[in-house]
Amino acid sequence: MRTIEFRGDRVVILDQTLLPEKIEYIECREISCIAEAIKSLRIRGAPALGIAAAFALALTVSKNSARSRKGIIEALDETYKVIKATRPTAVNLVWALDRVMEKVRVSEDPSGTAISEALRIYEEDLEINGKLSRYGAELLESGDIVQTHCNAGGLATGGIGTALGVILEAWKQGKEIKVFADETRPLLQGARLTAFELSQAHVPVTVITDSMAGFVMRRHNVTKVIVGADRIAANGDTANKIGTYTLAVLAKEHKVPFYVAAPLSTIDLRAESGEDIPIEYRKKEELEFFSGKRIVPPEANILNPAFDVTPAEYITAIITEKGVLRPHFKESIRRAFE
Ligand code: MRU
Repeated sequence: MRTIEFRGDRVVILDQTLLPEKIEYIECREISCIAEAIKSLRIRGAPALGIAAAFALALTVSKNSARSRKGIIEALDETYKVIKATRPTAVNLVWALDRVMEKVRVSEDPSGTAISEALRIYEEDLEINGKLSRYGAELLESGDIVQTHCNAGGLATGGIGTALGVILEAWKQGKEIKVFADETRPLLQGARLTAFELSQAHVPVTVITDSMAGFVMRRHNVTKVIVGADRIAANGDTANKIGTYTLAVLAKEHKVPFYVAAPLSTIDLRAESGEDIPIEYRKKEELEFFSGKRIVPPEANILNPAFDVTPAEYITAIITEKGVLRPHFKESIRRAFE
């Protein structure tokens, strides 16, 4: 099952809002369709957002009839603005836009370059997923009970996934692993997507609500926590789905190793610490209603941050395609980029 595909005149996206009930694809022929798909989480997860952003630029040039270089760049700049404004936290989105545009600006064939660079981002992600999953799998052993949060699987990337990639690789190597997936309120990426992906791979998975995390960690002997990331600051502070920070604090209290798995494209060297990471706040309706039914009185206020920041001191290691980075992260991250 492919999460996203560029087919020249359109970008085909698996609609993740319908999973696990329905497997349906949408065909985007307009940039506004891709922007809507990103905003409404039909496509989501940091690396997949990078790919979607790059494919939006590729679609722009393949649709554009402007012959002049200036016309092509103007159209690309417009797409850049529209896509950049969709979601603020996952740095991969703007990283991919910048990477394509940097290449385009120095190319004699801006259209060809936009398409080839976008496809390269996709193919590289596939490869990077494989590499970091193999590094991460070395940290897991038979008998491990792994807790994860949100979805950092194939659905969130171009390949096997990051946090789930590590679990799937260890499973493929014959390690007996059991997984607890936090359901991940309010949009249920853990229950709907992580449980779906792991079940398809026949990895034993048990879904719990987010508020069960502490009890389960203590009473059901969780041995490791692995999560993905949306943006990692230069000092290792990590933004990921809301609830990750809570899990990290719990892991420290219970002396359970807490791993973050992410490609280097998720590390934002311009963000010195978590304080510099923009956090997306989403609309209140996501909490106000459950399955179309009102669950919060209209008079009550609602706060809906989509991400939180886990300070570096709670993180045991960051698993990347360049290997497993250990504290002191400022130093190990700097070295990974050398
Ligand atoms: O709001 P989402 O579903 O896009 O949030 C996704 C996450 O928080 C993931 O854990 C993260 O992007 C890593 S995906 C490999």
